[in-house]
Amino acid sequence: MTRPAEAIAGLKPRIDDFAAALASPGQDERLRFARGVVERRGIDPAASAGRLRRYLEERTTSVGGSIEYARLLNPSAALADKLTVFRDRGLSTDTAIFVNFGIDRALQAMKQAGAASTMQRIAIVGPGLDFADKLEGHDFYPVQTIQPFALIDSLLRLELADERVLHVTAFDVSPRVLAHLDAARTRAAAGTPYSLVLPRNTDRPWTPGLVEYWRQAGARVGPAVNAPAPPAAAGSVDVRAIAVRPSIVSAIVPIDLDIVAGRLDLAPGELFDLVVVTNLFLYYDVFEQSLAAANIARMLRPGGMLLTNNRIFEVPSVPLTGAGYTDVVYMALPGVGDTGDRVIWYERR
Ligand SMILES: C[S@@+](CC[C@H](N)C(=O)[O-])C[C@H]1O[C@@H](n2cnc3c(N)ncnc32)[C@H](O)[C@@H]1O
Repeated sequence: MTRPAEAIAGLKPRIDDFAAALASPGQDERLRFARGVVERRGIDPAASAGRLRRYLEERTTSVGGSIEYARLLNPSAALADKLTVFRDRGLSTDTAIFVNFGIDRALQAMKQAGAASTMQRIAIVGPGLDFADKLEGHDFYPVQTIQPFALIDSLLRLELADERVLHVTAFDVSPRVLAHLDAARTRAAAGTPYSLVLPRNTDRPWTPGLVEYWRQAGARVGPAVNAPAPPAAAGSVDVRAIAVRPSIVSAIVPIDLDIVAGRLDLAPGELFDLVVVTNLFLYYDVFEQSLAAANIARMLRPGGMLLTNNRIFEVPSVPLTGAGYTDVVYMALPGVGDTGDRVIWYERR
């Protein structure tokens, strides 16, 4: 395995390019955001190139060599360590198409098992923002959120929701995620669709099920449109783009809420039929996860479902009971093995 210090040597040209780009970010949304981050640390990218490089190298080492991966990959690690693997890491908003395939398959299985019928009030906790694709590094398309559109797409295709009466609440703590959704709603109110871009690296051994999911993802929320062309350096990439209908965007209401610390007090008729929470619990310790689960349970109607790819700690005071699960495989990664998710359905007692 490459050690962090060796990796830094290989990454040096990229770090240099990045440092130079931060010094003159132009109108690029991502670079302006990154520049703001380093400026908040007192580094002026234009004036202190050496300090900026040292900071970037230190962050690369720290993230690449972080203890959390050792915890995750250690087969004999305690379950509580595995389920709280990112508890010491800052919150990340990264998101990708993969887990939405898992949610799609879980909804399908729930429907077949009679555990899901028509849903009207849905919540997503932590929809995330695709700032730069975590696996491939793509950033040739605008910053985007994926999960709200993928989830609505699945619900419509599986005939589990009616677009005309669907309400999706997107809870998040990140001001960037909330501002992104607010801006999309403002544009939708003026009739502008939302651009959703779904790249696929054709060199990756995606499972046939995932490829099939990717091919039709988004078809229920808007027409396919011309996709932005990836740069040559992006490798073998197929890209689909969807112009999400403004009416779909308007159905998604962002709300600033820390699910560990709070909840909405909902009247019985306002309780959610479904709450989706993926890649969020891992950032919290056992106690915080239990608080989050309790808050979610209080916002679900009896019989409503929580869908998550992180097993939660079932405690008697939280009325959520494991009702089933769906395993999905995304691809086989060399040296890592099959990557996938277990999407678990918890029913509100
Ligand atoms: C790693 S991203 C996952 C995004 C998406 N759910 C997915 O699986 O692709 C985690 C998301 O949860 C949000 N988040 C983290 N802690 C939260 C909390 N306590 N309450 C609400 N949102 C939170 C983050 O801001 C981010 O949008």
